[in-house]
Amino acid sequence: MSESIGIGAVREGSEPGAVTDADRPVLEGSKLVRRFREGKAELTVLSGVDLSVAAGERVAIIGASGSGKTTLLQILGGLDDPDEGSVLVGGERMQGRSEKAKGKLRNRYIGFVYQFHHLLPEFSAEENVAMPLMIRGTARADALTEARALLGRVGLGERLDHKPGELSGGERQRAAVARALITRPRLVLADEPTGNLDAGNGEHVLGLMLELNRELGTSLVIVTHDHGIAARMDRILVLEDGRLRPDGPAAKTAGP
Ligand SMILES: Nc1ncnc2c1ncn2[C@@H]1O[C@H](COP(=O)(O)OP(=O)(O)OP(=O)(O)O)[C@@H](O)[C@H]1O
Ligand SMILES: [Mg+2]
Repeated sequence: MSESIGIGAVREGSEPGAVTDADRPVLEGSKLVRRFREGKAELTVLSGVDLSVAAGERVAIIGASGSGKTTLLQILGGLDDPDEGSVLVGGERMQGRSEKAKGKLRNRYIGFVYQFHHLLPEFSAEENVAMPLMIRGTARADALTEARALLGRVGLGERLDHKPGELSGGERQRAAVARALITRPRLVLADEPTGNLDAGNGEHVLGLMLELNRELGTSLVIVTHDHGIAARMDRILVLEDGRLRPDGPAAKTAGP
């Protein structure tokens, strides 16, 4: 076992990335359209979104409430289907797969932090966090060891056995972030990962994601209302009127 406390150091036996993988965008969304039908009315939430995220790139997505950020993230992660357009993850097409095959692709490449965490209520915090590793075939004991280490990193070392209903909102959110990071994914899609957190815990969570980015080249796509967080990404994109547009140089958008 490595001495390093680095998040990348805990993992053993991960497949060495092929050279071609590094050159190819980790995530490519093309001409994404999403409409919702409510009776006779039709609401077009996404009307042609293009997004390409390079390996190791950090992207913030901002936009007004209801502009479609969660909808977009769910489509990018294969949790929802676009009405038009396509998503490639690691060069592999998400659409046209069975739910099971989408789940596999997601488990292989993506760590997803949901806006409302989606922890499994009947499992403890450490079991929830260990789950993605166990799904990959990691032995339960090893998965739980890694889960405990990561929960310690987000300040939940004393809450390992708590079920989600026995955690505070912010604690649940931190557990959800640990669950998203435990596979050391190539891509993290995070929907307001610090939304319920105080400044200190928000910084912990963001720090973990940035560490993963630095050490393993994990790409980050973070939906946030926090301009301070957005300014720490490589690019800021604004979702408005169903489309993504650049928000200009990141350095200029940092608010007071
Ligand atoms: N399943 C659905 N059926 C109908 N309308 C939906 C559905 N999901 C989302 N919408 C609508 O799509 C729009 C975008 O929703 P979305 O959750 O993507 O917004 P958001 O940008 O994430 O907002 P917030 O910042 O408040 O989280 C909203 O107007 C919402 O009411
Ligand atoms: Mg949302």
